[in-house]
Amino acid sequence: MTEKAKIIVDGKSYELPVVIGTEGEKGIDITNLRKETSYVTLDNGFGNTAACTSAITFLDGEKGILRYRGIPIEQLAEQSTFVETSYCLIFGRLPTRSQLGEFTKSFSRQYDLHRDMLNFFAGYPPAGHPMGLLSSMVCSLSGYYPELLKPEPTPDEIKQIAVQLLAKVNTISAYTYKKSIGQKFTAPRKDLDYIPNFLHMMFSRPGREYKIEEEVLSALRTLLILHADHEQNCSTSTVRLVGSSWANMFASISAGVCALWGPLHGGANQKVVEMLEEIHRDGGNIQKYITKAKNPDEKYRLMGFGHRVYKNFDPRATIIKRRAHELFDKMGIVDPLLDIAVKLEEAVLKDDYFAERKLYPNVDFYSGVIYKAIGIPTPMFPVMFAIGRMPGWIAHWKEMREDAESRIGRPRQIYTGETQHDFVPIDEREEAGIKK
Ligand code: ACO
Repeated sequence: MTEKAKIIVDGKSYELPVVIGTEGEKGIDITNLRKETSYVTLDNGFGNTAACTSAITFLDGEKGILRYRGIPIEQLAEQSTFVETSYCLIFGRLPTRSQLGEFTKSFSRQYDLHRDMLNFFAGYPPAGHPMGLLSSMVCSLSGYYPELLKPEPTPDEIKQIAVQLLAKVNTISAYTYKKSIGQKFTAPRKDLDYIPNFLHMMFSRPGREYKIEEEVLSALRTLLILHADHEQNCSTSTVRLVGSSWANMFASISAGVCALWGPLHGGANQKVVEMLEEIHRDGGNIQKYITKAKNPDEKYRLMGFGHRVYKNFDPRATIIKRRAHELFDKMGIVDPLLDIAVKLEEAVLKDDYFAERKLYPNVDFYSGVIYKAIGIPTPMFPVMFAIGRMPGWIAHWKEMREDAESRIGRPRQIYTGETQHDFVPIDEREEAGIKK
């Protein structure tokens, strides 16, 4: 028998269908609620609202489970590559050897930017935040591929856009960094894989080829895989909402980059390192910052702690913490910020305020110290997140557009403004001393 939920509104009872996911998650389907009852639901921050059904990523915040297309994140982080994981997220299953080879090769043909695009970099202030430039460049790609902007692209056209985005974000991000430090761009190398090519464009200079260390490669691979998708987070929901109006994938993902930029989301990795640096400069007094975060009058948060969904631990944070220690040990790096991070985490985990609110380190807590060790400057951290999240955004845009049931996203509201009153011309308002 199919499960139903019952709701009583104005004394009248209504039955609502219950949707059950493949992992047993249950949702009350309120699609017809307004039609039948004239009521809407109110859910601040969408904490209880499933905006769609999705077959891409499963996460259980209580148990700390994260799986892409059914595969545990721990296995992907250990055994897969970023390109292979991207394929799996976008196309629904792990690729065969020949599919992977073809997918990898298709990137190498698309790394170069159109020469006119280079003018965008010239016009952007060197000190401007890299996320502003990234978002603009991603959106402007739409101008260079008008043939891919049909309202209903074919599967092959969607694949072409996906490849363009994955390849171009690699180059755009590295050039954004070069622009910020006033260095000449280093052209992509088609013989290199995805991450080595990125490191090459970031750190090679004329006459000095960057030597790629295995540890760096491996740490970056892990970070990008861990960031690759996270179901209906703020930026992915933004991509889906924008795309639901049939806006093209470049435009939709550009909006996702902007949503990611915020310090409560992907911008947190930058803020974590800035916070650790501040604590370090301030003599390492961790307790002072914990006290500040607990004081409701301060409006201060410990960056890198807390998560809307994870309430026991973030499995990505566990993997990243281990990776950070491995990288530092193998490369003999000594960074006081890592020590402060470890001590801060220990102190927070013992503190009742954080325990009661189930606040644990999230994915952004240790990622920044790894980026810093690799030599990536702080403002570029959210850009690194965006490179990692690209396959997830693409997969969600694709899933939504391929879903025959998908509708334009258009939430309701409960209006709390003034009730009707008449317009009063300005002369009469002044005469009567009316303020509004
Ligand atoms: N430091 C101190 N207190 C916190 C923190 C924090 N980092 N996070 C939440 N709290 C407190 C809140 O003040 C609130 O306390 P109260 O109940 O006494 O009012 C309680 O915990 C619940 O917090 P909410 O803001 O309601 O939780 P929400 O689920 O809306 O927010 C978020 C989640 C945005 C991640 C939040 O924990 C936060 O701001 N963290 C810091 C920023 C951060 O690290 N963001 C990255 C998240 S991961 C990602 O997006 C990739």
